[in-house]
Amino acid sequence: MTTTLVTNIGSLVTNDPAQGDGTPLGLIENAAVVIDQDKIAWVGAAAEAPAADTAFDAQGRAAIPGFVDSHSHLVFAGDRTQEFNARMSGRSYSAGGIRTTVAATRAATDAELEANLVRHLHEARRQGTTTFETKSGYGLTVADEARALRIAAAHTEEVTYLGAHIVSPDYAEDPAGYVDLVTGEMLDACAPYARWVDVFCEKGAFDGDQARAVLTAGAAKGLIPRVHANQLSFGPGVQLAVELEAASADHCTHLTDADVDALANSSGRTVATLLPGAEFSTRAQWPDARRLLDAGVTVALSTDCNPGSSYTSSMPFCIALAVRDMRMTPDEALWSATTGGARALRRTDIGVLAPGARADLALLDAPSHVHLAYRPGVPLVSAVWQRGVRVH
Ligand code: NIG
Ligand code: FE
Repeated sequence: MTTTLVTNIGSLVTNDPAQGDGTPLGLIENAAVVIDQDKIAWVGAAAEAPAADTAFDAQGRAAIPGFVDSHSHLVFAGDRTQEFNARMSGRSYSAGGIRTTVAATRAATDAELEANLVRHLHEARRQGTTTFETKSGYGLTVADEARALRIAAAHTEEVTYLGAHIVSPDYAEDPAGYVDLVTGEMLDACAPYARWVDVFCEKGAFDGDQARAVLTAGAAKGLIPRVHANQLSFGPGVQLAVELEAASADHCTHLTDADVDALANSSGRTVATLLPGAEFSTRAQWPDARRLLDAGVTVALSTDCNPGSSYTSSMPFCIALAVRDMRMTPDEALWSATTGGARALRRTDIGVLAPGARADLALLDAPSHVHLAYRPGVPLVSAVWQRGVRVH
Protein backbone atom coordinates (compact mmCIF):
# COMPACT_ATOMS: atom_id res chain seq x y z
CA MET A 1 0.00 0.00 0.00
CA THR A 2 1.67 3.20 -1.08
CA THR A 3 -0.94 5.88 -1.87
CA THR A 4 -3.60 7.42 0.38
CA LEU A 5 -6.47 9.62 -0.75
CA VAL A 6 -7.58 12.12 1.91
CA THR A 7 -10.92 13.20 0.53
CA ASN A 8 -14.02 15.20 1.40
CA ILE A 9 -11.91 18.06 2.83
CA GLY A 10 -14.38 20.94 3.29
CA SER A 11 -11.73 23.65 2.98
CA LEU A 12 -8.09 23.03 2.11
CA VAL A 13 -5.28 25.56 2.65
CA THR A 14 -2.54 24.72 0.12
CA ASN A 15 -0.40 27.90 0.40
CA ASP A 16 0.11 27.46 -3.33
CA PRO A 17 -1.23 30.61 -5.01
CA ALA A 18 -1.33 28.74 -8.33
CA GLN A 19 -4.14 26.61 -6.90
CA GLY A 20 -7.64 27.34 -5.70
CA ASP A 21 -8.98 30.81 -5.06
CA GLY A 22 -5.94 32.82 -6.17
CA THR A 23 -5.12 34.16 -2.68
CA PRO A 24 -1.76 33.40 -1.01
CA LEU A 25 -3.50 30.58 0.89
CA GLY A 26 -4.58 28.88 -2.35
CA LEU A 27 -7.85 27.74 -0.75
CA ILE A 28 -9.77 24.87 -2.35
CA GLU A 29 -13.30 23.97 -1.24
CA ASN A 30 -14.44 20.31 -1.36
CA ALA A 31 -10.88 19.21 -1.88
CA ALA A 32 -8.78 16.07 -1.80
CA VAL A 33 -5.10 15.26 -1.44
CA VAL A 34 -3.23 12.16 -2.55
CA ILE A 35 -0.24 11.11 -0.45
CA ASP A 36 2.37 8.87 -2.07
CA GLN A 37 4.74 7.60 0.61
CA ASP A 38 6.24 10.72 2.21
CA LYS A 39 5.16 13.23 -0.48
CA ILE A 40 2.07 14.94 -1.79
CA ALA A 41 1.29 13.43 -5.21
CA TRP A 42 -1.89 15.29 -6.13
CA VAL A 43 -4.07 18.17 -4.83
CA GLY A 44 -7.41 19.36 -6.22
CA ALA A 45 -11.20 19.09 -6.22
CA ALA A 46 -12.47 15.92 -4.53
CA ALA A 47 -14.68 15.18 -7.54
CA GLU A 48 -11.60 14.94 -9.77
CA ALA A 49 -9.35 12.95 -7.46
CA PRO A 50 -7.51 9.96 -8.89
CA ALA A 51 -7.85 6.53 -7.33
CA ALA A 52 -5.50 5.51 -4.50
CA ASP A 53 -4.71 2.37 -2.56
CA THR A 54 -6.55 3.56 0.54
CA ALA A 55 -8.93 6.40 1.39
CA PHE A 56 -9.53 8.61 4.43
CA ASP A 57 -12.80 10.55 4.66
CA ALA A 58 -12.24 14.01 6.20
CA GLN A 59 -16.01 14.43 6.57
CA GLY A 60 -16.02 18.06 5.52
CA ARG A 61 -13.34 19.20 7.97
CA ALA A 62 -10.68 21.76 7.07
CA ALA A 63 -7.08 20.76 6.31
CA ILE A 64 -3.92 22.83 6.45
CA PRO A 65 -0.19 22.24 5.92
CA GLY A 66 1.47 21.08 9.14
CA PHE A 67 2.81 23.99 11.19
CA VAL A 68 6.47 24.92 10.79
CA ASP A 69 7.69 26.03 14.21
CA SER A 70 10.90 27.76 13.20
CA HIS A 71 12.02 28.88 16.69
CA SER A 72 12.07 26.84 19.89
CA HIS A 73 14.43 26.01 22.76
CA LEU A 74 13.57 22.43 23.67
CA VAL A 75 16.81 20.99 25.02
CA PHE A 76 16.51 21.89 28.68
CA ALA A 77 15.71 20.45 32.10
CA GLY A 78 13.62 21.79 34.95
CA ASP A 79 11.11 24.59 34.73
CA ARG A 80 10.74 28.18 35.93
CA THR A 81 7.33 28.14 37.57
CA GLN A 82 8.47 30.36 40.43
CA GLU A 83 9.88 32.95 38.06
CA PHE A 84 6.61 33.00 36.11
CA ASN A 85 4.65 33.30 39.32
CA ALA A 86 6.78 36.23 40.46
CA ARG A 87 6.40 37.89 37.07
CA MET A 88 2.64 37.59 37.18
CA SER A 89 2.86 39.30 40.57
CA GLY A 90 4.64 42.26 39.05
CA ARG A 91 8.32 41.38 38.57
CA SER A 92 9.72 42.00 35.09
CA TYR A 93 11.39 39.52 32.75
CA SER A 94 15.17 39.61 32.32
CA ALA A 95 17.63 37.41 30.46
CA GLY A 96 19.18 36.46 33.82
CA GLY A 97 16.56 33.75 34.41
CA ILE A 98 18.29 31.71 31.71
CA ARG A 99 20.97 30.86 34.32
CA THR A 100 18.42 28.85 36.33
CA THR A 101 17.75 26.61 33.33
CA VAL A 102 21.48 26.36 32.55
CA ALA A 103 22.11 24.91 36.02
CA ALA A 104 19.26 22.38 35.68
CA THR A 105 20.30 21.40 32.16
CA ARG A 106 23.93 20.84 33.09
CA ALA A 107 22.81 18.60 35.97
CA ALA A 108 20.55 16.45 33.77
CA THR A 109 21.57 13.21 32.11
CA ASP A 110 21.45 12.78 28.33
CA ALA A 111 18.45 10.50 28.73
CA GLU A 112 16.57 13.09 30.79
CA LEU A 113 17.24 15.83 28.25
CA GLU A 114 16.14 13.63 25.39
CA ALA A 115 12.97 12.48 27.17
CA ASN A 116 12.08 16.10 27.86
CA LEU A 117 12.64 17.04 24.22
CA VAL A 118 10.52 14.15 22.99
CA ARG A 119 7.72 14.99 25.43
CA HIS A 120 7.55 18.53 24.09
CA LEU A 121 7.75 17.54 20.47
CA HIS A 122 4.92 15.04 20.89
CA GLU A 123 2.93 17.79 22.59
CA ALA A 124 3.60 20.09 19.62
CA ARG A 125 2.72 17.38 17.10
CA ARG A 126 -0.68 16.81 18.67
CA GLN A 127 -1.25 20.52 17.99
CA GLY A 128 -0.32 20.24 14.32
CA THR A 129 3.42 20.97 14.26
CA THR A 130 5.21 18.78 11.72
CA THR A 131 8.56 20.59 11.52
CA PHE A 132 10.39 22.26 14.36
CA GLU A 133 13.67 24.04 14.76
CA THR A 134 15.41 23.85 18.11
CA LYS A 135 18.56 25.20 19.75
CA SER A 136 21.27 24.70 22.27
CA GLY A 137 21.85 27.56 24.70
CA TYR A 138 21.24 26.07 28.14
CA GLY A 139 24.60 24.30 28.40
CA LEU A 140 27.16 27.05 27.76
CA THR A 141 30.17 24.73 28.07
CA VAL A 142 31.79 22.99 25.11
CA ALA A 143 30.54 19.58 26.22
CA ASP A 144 27.05 20.71 27.27
CA GLU A 145 26.38 22.68 24.10
CA ALA A 146 27.62 19.85 21.88
CA ARG A 147 25.49 17.26 23.66
CA ALA A 148 22.39 19.48 23.40
CA LEU A 149 22.89 19.69 19.63
CA ARG A 150 23.63 16.00 19.29
CA ILE A 151 20.37 15.18 21.11
CA ALA A 152 18.42 17.71 19.02
CA ALA A 153 19.89 16.43 15.75
CA ALA A 154 18.44 12.98 16.42
CA HIS A 155 14.94 14.52 16.21
CA THR A 156 15.08 17.36 13.69
CA GLU A 157 17.22 18.52 10.78
CA GLU A 158 16.72 22.13 11.90
CA VAL A 159 19.29 22.49 14.66
CA THR A 160 20.72 25.80 15.82
CA TYR A 161 23.92 26.48 17.73
CA LEU A 162 23.15 29.12 20.41
CA GLY A 163 26.27 28.99 22.57
CA ALA A 164 25.82 32.78 22.62
CA HIS A 165 22.55 32.73 24.56
CA ILE A 166 24.03 34.55 27.57
CA VAL A 167 27.60 34.82 28.81
CA SER A 168 28.24 31.61 30.73
CA PRO A 169 28.23 32.16 34.52
CA ASP A 170 31.72 30.59 34.45
CA TYR A 171 32.92 33.64 32.45
CA ALA A 172 31.03 36.34 34.39
CA GLU A 173 34.28 38.31 34.80
CA ASP A 174 35.53 37.63 31.27
CA PRO A 175 32.79 38.06 28.63
CA ALA A 176 35.41 38.50 25.88
CA GLY A 177 36.88 35.15 26.86
CA TYR A 178 33.45 33.58 26.52
CA VAL A 179 33.01 35.03 23.02
CA ASP A 180 36.41 33.54 22.14
CA LEU A 181 35.19 30.15 23.38
CA VAL A 182 31.89 30.41 21.48
CA THR A 183 33.67 31.37 18.26
CA GLY A 184 36.49 28.86 18.75
CA GLU A 185 36.54 25.54 20.55
CA MET A 186 32.79 25.43 21.24
CA LEU A 187 31.94 26.20 17.61
CA ASP A 188 34.29 23.47 16.42
CA ALA A 189 32.56 20.94 18.68
CA CYS A 190 29.03 22.09 17.77
CA ALA A 191 29.16 22.86 14.05
CA PRO A 192 28.94 19.20 12.93
CA TYR A 193 25.47 18.88 14.52
CA ALA A 194 23.98 22.22 13.47
CA ARG A 195 22.60 23.96 10.39
CA TRP A 196 22.23 27.41 11.95
CA VAL A 197 24.11 29.79 14.26
CA ASP A 198 22.19 32.18 16.51
CA VAL A 199 23.02 34.87 19.09
CA PHE A 200 20.91 36.71 21.67
CA CYS A 201 21.77 40.29 20.71
CA GLU A 202 20.45 42.27 23.69
CA LYS A 203 21.50 44.32 26.68
CA GLY A 204 22.49 41.79 29.33
CA ALA A 205 23.43 39.24 26.66
CA PHE A 206 25.64 40.14 23.64
CA ASP A 207 26.19 43.55 22.02
CA GLY A 208 26.37 44.22 18.30
CA ASP A 209 30.13 43.65 17.98
CA GLN A 210 30.00 40.41 19.94
CA ALA A 211 27.00 39.23 17.95
CA ARG A 212 28.79 40.00 14.68
CA ALA A 213 31.81 37.98 15.83
CA VAL A 214 29.62 34.99 16.74
CA LEU A 215 27.64 35.03 13.49
CA THR A 216 30.61 35.52 11.17
CA ALA A 217 32.57 32.76 12.91
CA GLY A 218 29.58 30.44 12.53
CA ALA A 219 29.14 31.39 8.88
CA ALA A 220 32.82 30.63 8.24
CA LYS A 221 32.06 27.10 9.50
CA GLY A 222 29.13 26.78 7.09
CA LEU A 223 26.33 27.64 9.55
CA ILE A 224 23.65 30.08 8.40
CA PRO A 225 22.93 33.00 10.76
CA ARG A 226 19.67 33.73 12.55
CA VAL A 227 19.41 36.31 15.34
CA HIS A 228 17.46 36.89 18.56
CA ALA A 229 16.98 40.57 17.79
CA ASN A 230 15.26 43.58 19.35
CA GLN A 231 13.27 41.57 21.90
CA LEU A 232 13.60 43.57 25.10
CA SER A 233 14.83 46.88 23.72
CA PHE A 234 15.88 48.72 20.57
CA GLY A 235 19.29 47.61 19.33
CA PRO A 236 21.52 46.58 16.45
CA GLY A 237 20.24 42.99 16.06
CA VAL A 238 17.80 43.41 13.20
CA GLN A 239 20.12 45.45 11.00
CA LEU A 240 22.99 43.09 11.73
CA ALA A 241 20.77 40.16 10.71
CA VAL A 242 19.94 41.82 7.40
CA GLU A 243 23.54 42.84 6.77
CA LEU A 244 24.80 39.29 7.37
CA GLU A 245 21.96 37.81 5.28
CA ALA A 246 20.56 35.93 8.24
CA ALA A 247 17.57 33.71 7.45
CA SER A 248 15.57 35.42 10.17
CA ALA A 249 15.50 38.13 12.80
CA ASP A 250 13.49 36.74 15.68
CA HIS A 251 11.27 38.65 18.16
CA CYS A 252 11.38 42.10 16.43
CA THR A 253 9.43 43.67 19.27
CA HIS A 254 11.21 47.05 19.38
CA LEU A 255 11.82 48.32 15.85
CA THR A 256 12.80 51.69 14.42
CA ASP A 257 11.64 52.70 10.95
CA ALA A 258 15.18 51.93 9.74
CA ASP A 259 14.87 48.38 11.11
CA VAL A 260 11.58 47.86 9.29
CA ASP A 261 13.07 49.32 6.07
CA ALA A 262 16.10 47.01 6.33
CA LEU A 263 13.87 43.94 6.65
CA ALA A 264 11.65 45.10 3.79
CA ASN A 265 14.67 45.83 1.57
CA SER A 266 15.98 42.31 2.16
CA SER A 267 13.08 41.19 -0.09
CA GLY A 268 12.25 38.21 2.10
CA ARG A 269 15.84 37.02 2.50
CA THR A 270 15.68 37.90 6.20
CA VAL A 271 12.29 36.89 7.61
CA ALA A 272 10.88 38.63 10.69
CA THR A 273 9.91 35.80 13.05
CA LEU A 274 7.37 36.98 15.60
CA LEU A 275 7.00 35.07 18.87
CA PRO A 276 3.82 36.24 20.59
CA GLY A 277 4.07 33.56 23.28
CA ALA A 278 7.02 35.52 24.67
CA GLU A 279 5.11 38.80 24.90
CA PHE A 280 2.15 36.95 26.39
CA SER A 281 4.22 35.22 29.08
CA THR A 282 6.33 38.26 29.94
CA ARG A 283 3.46 40.76 29.75
CA ALA A 284 5.42 42.79 27.23
CA GLN A 285 4.22 44.96 24.36
CA TRP A 286 3.20 43.08 21.21
CA PRO A 287 5.38 43.17 18.11
CA ASP A 288 3.72 45.32 15.46
CA ALA A 289 2.96 42.70 12.84
CA ARG A 290 0.75 45.08 10.85
CA ARG A 291 3.60 47.57 10.42
CA LEU A 292 5.91 44.82 9.14
CA LEU A 293 3.34 43.30 6.78
CA ASP A 294 2.31 46.67 5.40
CA ALA A 295 5.99 47.43 4.70
CA GLY A 296 6.27 44.20 2.70
CA VAL A 297 8.34 42.23 5.22
CA THR A 298 8.02 38.42 5.16
CA VAL A 299 6.68 37.39 8.58
CA ALA A 300 6.87 34.01 10.32
CA LEU A 301 5.06 33.04 13.51
CA SER A 302 6.62 30.65 15.96
CA THR A 303 6.27 29.51 19.59
CA ASP A 304 9.76 30.27 21.02
CA CYS A 305 8.87 27.35 23.32
CA ASN A 306 11.25 27.58 26.31
CA PRO A 307 10.84 27.31 30.08
CA GLY A 308 11.50 31.01 30.73
CA SER A 309 9.86 33.46 28.41
CA SER A 310 7.31 31.39 26.47
CA TYR A 311 6.40 27.97 27.76
CA THR A 312 3.92 27.06 25.05
CA SER A 313 4.34 24.53 22.25
CA SER A 314 1.07 25.54 20.65
CA MET A 315 1.10 27.10 17.20
CA PRO A 316 -2.71 27.49 17.29
CA PHE A 317 -2.35 29.57 20.46
CA CYS A 318 0.27 31.78 18.76
CA ILE A 319 -2.05 32.22 15.78
CA ALA A 320 -4.87 33.30 18.07
CA LEU A 321 -2.61 35.87 19.79
CA ALA A 322 -1.30 37.15 16.46
CA VAL A 323 -4.81 37.70 15.17
CA ARG A 324 -6.30 39.16 18.35
CA ASP A 325 -3.40 41.26 19.55
CA MET A 326 -0.98 41.78 16.66
CA ARG A 327 -3.59 42.69 14.06
CA MET A 328 -2.80 39.92 11.64
CA THR A 329 -5.71 38.57 9.63
CA PRO A 330 -6.51 34.87 10.17
CA ASP A 331 -5.20 34.19 6.65
CA GLU A 332 -1.91 36.03 7.31
CA ALA A 333 -1.41 34.26 10.63
CA LEU A 334 -2.00 30.82 9.11
CA TRP A 335 0.41 31.59 6.26
CA SER A 336 3.07 32.88 8.67
CA ALA A 337 2.77 29.75 10.85
CA THR A 338 3.30 27.46 7.86
CA THR A 339 4.94 28.92 4.74
CA GLY A 340 6.37 31.82 6.76
CA GLY A 341 8.16 29.37 9.04
CA ALA A 342 9.40 27.46 6.01
CA ARG A 343 10.82 30.70 4.56
CA ALA A 344 12.57 31.37 7.88
CA LEU A 345 14.18 27.94 7.51
CA ARG A 346 14.87 28.48 3.80
CA ARG A 347 12.73 25.47 2.92
CA THR A 348 10.35 25.08 -0.02
CA ASP A 349 9.34 21.46 0.61
CA ILE A 350 7.27 22.18 3.74
CA GLY A 351 4.56 24.67 4.70
CA VAL A 352 2.78 24.03 1.40
CA LEU A 353 0.51 21.32 0.01
CA ALA A 354 1.42 20.89 -3.62
CA PRO A 355 2.69 17.95 -5.68
CA GLY A 356 6.22 17.09 -4.58
CA ALA A 357 5.95 18.75 -1.16
CA ARG A 358 6.41 16.75 2.00
CA ALA A 359 3.17 15.08 3.07
CA ASP A 360 2.80 17.06 6.30
CA LEU A 361 -0.79 18.06 7.00
CA ALA A 362 -3.25 18.61 9.81
CA LEU A 363 -6.98 18.12 9.84
CA LEU A 364 -9.04 20.51 11.96
CA ASP A 365 -12.24 19.70 13.77
CA ALA A 366 -13.66 22.83 12.16
CA PRO A 367 -14.98 23.93 8.77
CA SER A 368 -12.22 26.52 8.23
CA HIS A 369 -8.70 27.47 9.31
CA VAL A 370 -10.21 30.74 10.62
CA HIS A 371 -11.46 28.75 13.61
CA LEU A 372 -7.88 28.52 14.91
CA ALA A 373 -8.20 32.17 15.97
CA TYR A 374 -11.98 32.24 16.32
CA ARG A 375 -11.99 29.37 18.87
CA PRO A 376 -8.86 30.08 20.97
CA GLY A 377 -7.77 27.39 23.39
CA VAL A 378 -9.93 24.69 21.79
CA PRO A 379 -7.98 21.59 20.67
CA LEU A 380 -9.12 21.63 17.04
CA VAL A 381 -6.32 19.55 15.51
CA SER A 382 -7.92 16.15 15.02
CA ALA A 383 -5.45 14.30 12.77
CA VAL A 384 -1.84 14.87 11.70
CA TRP A 385 0.23 13.27 8.93
CA GLN A 386 3.99 13.73 9.01
CA ARG A 387 5.98 12.57 5.98
CA GLY A 388 2.85 10.70 4.90
CA VAL A 389 2.48 8.80 8.18
CA ARG A 390 -0.50 9.37 10.43
CA VAL A 391 1.09 10.44 13.72
CA HIS A 392 -1.95 11.78 15.56
O1 NIG B 1 13.81 33.61 22.97
N1 NIG B 1 15.62 35.65 24.23
C1 NIG B 1 16.37 34.78 24.61
N2 NIG B 1 16.03 33.51 24.74
C2 NIG B 1 14.73 33.04 25.02
C3 NIG B 1 14.43 33.10 26.45
C4 NIG B 1 15.05 32.00 27.14
C5 NIG B 1 14.76 31.92 28.59
O2 NIG B 1 14.27 32.87 29.24
O3 NIG B 1 15.09 30.85 29.10
C6 NIG B 1 13.71 33.75 24.18
O4 NIG B 1 12.78 34.41 24.66
FE1 FE C 1 14.17 32.28 21.58
